[in-house]
Amino acid sequence: MATEIQYPTDDDLKLIADSWGAIISRTFPPSDPPAKVDDMAVGTRFTYEFYQHLFESNPEVRSMFPDIEAQSDALAGILGVVINNGDNLASLKTAVLNLGYRHGHQYNVTPAQYDAVGANLVKTIKEWCEAQQKWDDEMTAAWVKVYTILAGWMIEGQALESPVD
Ligand code: HEM
Repeated sequence: MATEIQYPTDDDLKLIADSWGAIISRTFPPSDPPAKVDDMAVGTRFTYEFYQHLFESNPEVRSMFPDIEAQSDALAGILGVVINNGDNLASLKTAVLNLGYRHGHQYNVTPAQYDAVGANLVKTIKEWCEAQQKWDDEMTAAWVKVYTILAGWMIEGQALESPVD
């Protein structure tokens, strides 16, 4: 029997909105010497840092990403979409299945790699929220809930023989 999806509650959505608000309101002094992160939009800088953590824990995936800045932008974009549609995640299912399809068929991602991505994403969220004195342990559970739904659909999409309409 398929496990029933645990959609985020209103409290979870509030924790997610609060944590994302803390992330995107973070400011940084310019690096000395100047660094490319100085010129990134804050959401992209956040996902860029997530990828640095991912490559530290899983160096074998580094070569899968030819353009890490473009990739950081793409991930920041989809995170924004997910957060804006947190109360209606089911409306994103088709798009996420097709994203998962591309991950399996074009990018050769394995289902097992979703755990490493999820763990590093939550780790980066925690670090950024702590830096803003906004961390709350309940935020982990809220983010894990949302990521579990997305990763489940992505993995389902990976197994499809063709994209869905
Ligand atoms: C819920 C989890 C994930 C989300 C939301 C996500 C999101 C994205 C997005 C938006 C893109 C841009 C390209 C496109 O739209 O097709 C992308 C590309 C990519 N993702 Fe993911 N991803 C996830 C999990 C993973 C995992 C687990 C891996 C494994 C390491 C991975 C590896 C890649 C690779 C290799 C690319 C293509 C890079 C390139 O060719 O430039 N992703 N991902």
